[in-house]
Amino acid sequence: MSLSIGIHDLSFATGEFVLPHTALAAHNGTEIGKYHLGIGQESMSVPAADEDIVTLGATAAAPIIARHGAERIRTVVFATESSIDQAKSAGVYVHSLLGLPSATRVVELKQACYGATAALQFAIGLVQRDPAQQVLVVASDVSKYELDSPGEATQGAAAVAMLVGVDPALVRIEDPSGLFTADVMDFWRPNYREAALVDGHESIGAYLQAVEGTWKDYTEQGGRTLEEFAAFCYHQPFTKMAYKAHRHLLNYCGYDTDEAVIARALGHTTAYNRVIGNSYTASVYLGLAALLDRAEDLTGRPLAFLSYGSGSVAEFFAGTVVAGYREHLRTDANRRAIDRRTEVDYARYRDLHEWRFPTDGGDHATPEQTTGPFRLAGISGHKRLYQAR
Ligand code: HMG
Repeated sequence: MSLSIGIHDLSFATGEFVLPHTALAAHNGTEIGKYHLGIGQESMSVPAADEDIVTLGATAAAPIIARHGAERIRTVVFATESSIDQAKSAGVYVHSLLGLPSATRVVELKQACYGATAALQFAIGLVQRDPAQQVLVVASDVSKYELDSPGEATQGAAAVAMLVGVDPALVRIEDPSGLFTADVMDFWRPNYREAALVDGHESIGAYLQAVEGTWKDYTEQGGRTLEEFAAFCYHQPFTKMAYKAHRHLLNYCGYDTDEAVIARALGHTTAYNRVIGNSYTASVYLGLAALLDRAEDLTGRPLAFLSYGSGSVAEFFAGTVVAGYREHLRTDANRRAIDRRTEVDYARYRDLHEWRFPTDGGDHATPEQTTGPFRLAGISGHKRLYQAR
């Protein structure tokens, strides 16, 4: 008998600050309609100087540990593309900050924004092998482009933590998956760069190719039909991309496209991404959080997921919402994570964007800015020093 495995709990965290797109538009003379309608973004989360993928990841995961304990967690998979170390997994710092047992395997996974879906699928495989264990998946990213570049308006930061196990309380993940890989240079970040390089318009085309490729494979593997899905959670570098993707999928399947039909299919999946911005690996699961928090009862309904990571790898898969899921949601906490952010003006945002540690190996303290539960206190001898607040 096949086991029911999936997302048992989901929690997210985002940055301390928020920059409204009106401030960016006023700075660069862009007509605000381009941001609000053209790309579908209202604001972007900006991390404090003492926040990074580790503090965001630990903040997202801490409520999960508080609710379920750590006894059954034997694996932590940390997905990111804004890695802070070429060797050590950011997950090891999170493991330490959360006081997880030493009998845990911890690893970092990377394939652009797709990494969290790889982590989820690997977690499911581990749980299949040992149904007593739970896997903590943490997807955490800070999206950073050059100042005054077209990508700047699509920055953001967030972490999603998911507890994966048998008899999940939220969403049961199904087989099959539709898979797609193509070697494209649409978006990349060489090791010596902090900001990503991107061919914006090529990247949109590459994403749409991947939608087509994953759907083709999904149907060949015997997946569900389009009509069966209650909603579609897409990777959202900007929320308008989800509209483009769904329109492309409908056209590919031979349907006429009507904006109202697309909006209905996306449901509430864009609500959090619209105000947080691109959170890379976390993005598609922020879409899920917004949908579960805000939609009418979805019990028993199948959801579609399209996870895309530039470069590129993508996966289309389905999950069914479990009876009683509403009792396990974190809707109030999610609202608070968004509402607690302090608005910054363009000058403050620019300072935060340009903040970085000297690389001389000396002792450097970080300005105390975050009001979150964990902070990056400084760096000493090239070692990052984290603390609980
Ligand atoms: P751009 O070239 O400055 O913008 O940057 P544009 O000229 O293409 O305009 C954007 C849209 O706004 C257009 O709509 C305009 O018509 C519209 P569209 O034709 O696309 O439907 N517009 C307006 N609408 C209303 N009122 C107005 C107005 N003016 C214009 N006044 C771009 C846009 C997305 C290229 C840029 O922000 C960028 O390079 N972003 C980063 C790359 C990106 O997000 N790519 C998405 C696909 S790749 C992906 O998802 C992977 C990623 O997450 C990374 C990973 O996997 O790790 C990025």
